[in-house]
Amino acid sequence: MPIFKKHLFVCTFGQSCKETQAGFVFEELKRRIYEKCDKNDIRVNRAGCLGQCGLGPVIAIYPENTWYKGVQISDCAEITQSIVDDTVVIRLEHNKV
Ligand code: FES
Repeated sequence: MPIFKKHLFVCTFGQSCKETQAGFVFEELKRRIYEKCDKNDIRVNRAGCLGQCGLGPVIAIYPENTWYKGVQISDCAEITQSIVDDTVVIRLEHNKV
């Protein structure tokens, strides 16, 4: 089993994010990332509550410890490119608590 270089967690099971487009964001992000990246390197997973309720959809990316809030389906292309380029989408970044 490979150890992933990056791991994205999209809160889709938490009640607050569930009420947003989080499930659709997860599907779109996964589709785009797996189109451009090696599945052995990058993993996209659904997650339960990430403790940032009310800011969803929320995404956490490791090992960078980058957090995004209020992610929309229309943001997925930009996030995907940032994964490829190893950069951060500043406008979506959520300061860690
Ligand atoms: S419900 Fe998504 S962060 Fe809590």
